[in-house]
Amino acid sequence: MFEADSITEDGKRAIVDLINRSVLQVEYSFIVNYPRIIDHFTNVYQVFVESFRPNLEKLGKDSLRHQNLAMEIITLLGGKPTWAIADMDRMNDVRRMLSDQLDGEKAALSAYLEARDIAEQNQVKGLKGMMLIIGSAGHPREDNEKSRSSMISMFEKLARDEVGHIRLLEAIMAELRI
Ligand SMILES: [Fe+2]
Repeated sequence: MFEADSITEDGKRAIVDLINRSVLQVEYSFIVNYPRIIDHFTNVYQVFVESFRPNLEKLGKDSLRHQNLAMEIITLLGGKPTWAIADMDRMNDVRRMLSDQLDGEKAALSAYLEARDIAEQNQVKGLKGMMLIIGSAGHPREDNEKSRSSMISMFEKLARDEVGHIRLLEAIMAELRI
């Protein structure tokens, strides 16, 4: 995990708000909807494309991992994870089912990039920042830089995952010709 103390209180609040507002709901909908889509394609539409199932399973598993990580981040930053359980749509439009997921993946990408920017722009400065630097053992400045970059790089890693999800979903849609 990362060093939460390297982020200002305003920055922590902004990241918590952003993740609560833009990440938890969308990741949760993926956790629910990817297995539903697999089931619908397999049992209702009887679509059997070789790569289809493992790819959608990967998207579902990654969403679960992201959801858990997002909740950890919120807690570590002093917030409380909150999201509502949305109504389930009936699955009767194949194109819409997958294009809704694609919109969600793009929204998650924007949110992680925004979180990265907030983390970058809200590093602890002034006296408290100095205390953090002085307080670190060994190579204090290096340690502080390391913790700072690890938080930023974590959001970058999450954003990279989302770029992969978008590409995967687009490939699935192209394969199914929808
Ligand atoms: Fe995703």
